[in-house]
Order: sequence, then C-alpha cells, then structure tokens
Amino acid sequence: MFEQLEALPDDPILSLIKLFREDLSTKKVDLGAGVYQNEAGQTEVLPSVKRAEAKILEEQTTKTYEGLAGSADYNTAMQRLVFGDDHAALRDGRVATVQTTGGSGGLHVAARVLAGASPGAKVWLSEPTWPNHGPLLASAGIEFASYPYLNLATQQIDFDAMLGALAGAPAGDVVLLHGCCHNPSGADLSTEQWRALLEVVERRGLVPFIDMAYQGFAEGVAEDAYGVRLFAAKLPEVVVVTSCSKNFGLYRERVGTANIVAASTAAAVTAGSHLASNTRRIYSMPPAHGAAVVATILNDERLRAEWLEELAEMRTRINALRRDLAATLAAKTGSNRFDFVADQRGMFSLLGLSPEQVGRLRDEFHVYMVGSSRTNIAGVREANLDYLSDAIAAVL
Ligand code: LMR
Repeated sequence: MFEQLEALPDDPILSLIKLFREDLSTKKVDLGAGVYQNEAGQTEVLPSVKRAEAKILEEQTTKTYEGLAGSADYNTAMQRLVFGDDHAALRDGRVATVQTTGGSGGLHVAARVLAGASPGAKVWLSEPTWPNHGPLLASAGIEFASYPYLNLATQQIDFDAMLGALAGAPAGDVVLLHGCCHNPSGADLSTEQWRALLEVVERRGLVPFIDMAYQGFAEGVAEDAYGVRLFAAKLPEVVVVTSCSKNFGLYRERVGTANIVAASTAAAVTAGSHLASNTRRIYSMPPAHGAAVVATILNDERLRAEWLEELAEMRTRINALRRDLAATLAAKTGSNRFDFVADQRGMFSLLGLSPEQVGRLRDEFHVYMVGSSRTNIAGVREANLDYLSDAIAAVL
C-alpha cells in the first residue's frame, strides 16, 4: 500500500538544517531555523541548564510515569513565569495547564480542545504567520481564516486592517496572536495596540489563542508577556501556549505548556480534563526531562537568577546584532531600506527578498534563509556581518 503514497515536500524550515549541514563551505551562514547561536556559531547548552541537569541526575529516584498533565511542579512554575506571580486568573483558580511536547504539541492539543468545545469556530491567523500554524490546526480538524498583519512594504503592522478584519469575525471565533517576537516578521504589537485589540476582541466575543514561543527574547520576561497577562486579566476565556525551546535553549527536549484560562474554576477543571484526555489520545504523556530542568531552574533562586542573566545575554546580543546588521546593510546598499531590522524584535525579520534572491543567496553565497526571506538574526555573527551584507547587496 505504501507505494501508492506520494512523497511529500520537505518542511520549508526544518529542511534547511540538513542542507546547511551538508554545505562544506567555510563561508556558510545559517539564518534558517529559529535556533540561537553564539558568536562562535554554536548553540550551547545554557550553564543553568547544565547545573539543573547535574542536580536531577544526582537526585532523581524514579523514572515512573508523571501523568497526563506532566509535572505539577513544572506546570505551576510555568504558570507564574507566563502569567506573573500574582495574576488574578491564577489566584481565582481559572487556569488549567498541561505540560506539552514543545510549543507545537501545545498548539495541537489546545486546538483539539477548541475544536471539541466549539465545532464550527474558525481560527484567524495573522498574514503572515509561522508556516506550521495552519498544519497544526488543520490536523486538529480546525478551519482557519487570516487577518492582515504585516505590511511588507512599510514593515509596519497594518493595525487598522487587522482590527477591521477581526471586527467582522463572528462571535466565538478564535484569533491566534503571537505573544511577542512575531514569527516570521519580528513586528510586535505595542502596549497601546494590545489594549485596542482587547476592546475589539471583547466587543466581538472572540477567543484569543496566544502563542508565546519566545518569552524573554524581545524586551524581558514580564514585558514580553504584557498581552498574555492583560488578556487573561480582562477576558473570561483565553488560550495560551508557550515553549521552552528558545528561552531555556531546550529545543530537542520538546517542552512547552498549553494553558486554558476559563470563566470559572469549574470550567478550568473541565478544560484541563480535555487537555489531558487529548494528550492521552495523541502521545499519552509528555517526556519528563526538559520539564524537570525548567522546574529545577525556576524553583531554585540562584539557578533562576543565573538563567535570567543568560536569557538577557541572548536578548541583548540579538538586539545588538539587529542594529549592526541594519547599519552594515545601510552602508553596503547605500539605502535605508533595511532600517526596520533594528526596530523589530525576536529572532526573525522578513527581508523582503524574492524567492529567486533567496535562492541566489544559498547557491552563490552559502547563506541559508527560509524562502519567504525570513532571516534568523540570532544566526548572524559580528564576524560575518560584512560577508552577509555584501551577499545581500549583491542579489538586490
Ligand atoms: C522556527 O520557526 O524556525 C522554529 O520555531 C523551528 C520550527 O519548528 O519551525
């Protein structure tokens, strides 16, 4: 039967990892998958993670099952990280949280609960959005629509068009938002825009579904959660999915959360049972190691302080690289067309290059980025700024 299957195209993001590894050029530059690299081009295990792992190795006494929701210590620590220590929704017992296999696992599990709770509801996705949002929702049986977000020509959020589209969405529909570090554009909502959006979401009776995969990579852990915390404080129902891939550097450990903020404690308990039942039906329960690392760090004052410093270092470096790349591109191209790179946040910006230009960068210059010209700024190095900027200028 399998010879009847048609081979599927490679994943547009993850296939770049393989292509980059196979390229033997010493000049190669990896601006593909959203993975942080240091100035030496390495994605190191964070020192706080190493210390937490040593502690776990020493102290862990069993490998028995954790349960469908994963580690309770982890879930509680993550609730505080995401919503803040003293958030009203947590105090009121309105938040159900399960540990998930990365942010992707969280998005899929949460989408399945949404599909069960409100069978006809559509999920509205930003245009553009992370290419895997659609497939993760579709495989949960959810239909989606899109709302305008980035104006590629101005590199600004087309906020009026966004609000206009959402103001026309039927009550009960779901709007998928990026908590911070919008992927792929790096264009984030300001605090005023979050408040204006809240008004439309509330008035239309929409349910926000916030994907926060990069908490701590834009301005800081609390600043980046502004929208999540505001919406969870003001609205009866919010879905929040998070990832520890980037901010804890735990990529391959696959650790994240799915959170449902419900209108009452009873509704949250019920929603939690649906999250757990869905994980049971997909993969039974999440792997333990990554969550144990995160819980160990967040629940130990010293390790937590160390981790916050490491996170700040990654954030500060990315923001400095953004400024340096914008300045070098301005010098090399004699134009200000890439100035927006300095103002955007998180790992990604869309450079606005054509697929042909992206192809030339790869074939002629060994520079790897996603076909949409999504560029992982965390893959830039001071040492290759000139080479990279010359290459981009050459294909313009
Ligand atoms: C990305 O957007 O590059 C990362 O989130 C990796 C992935 O799974 O696509």
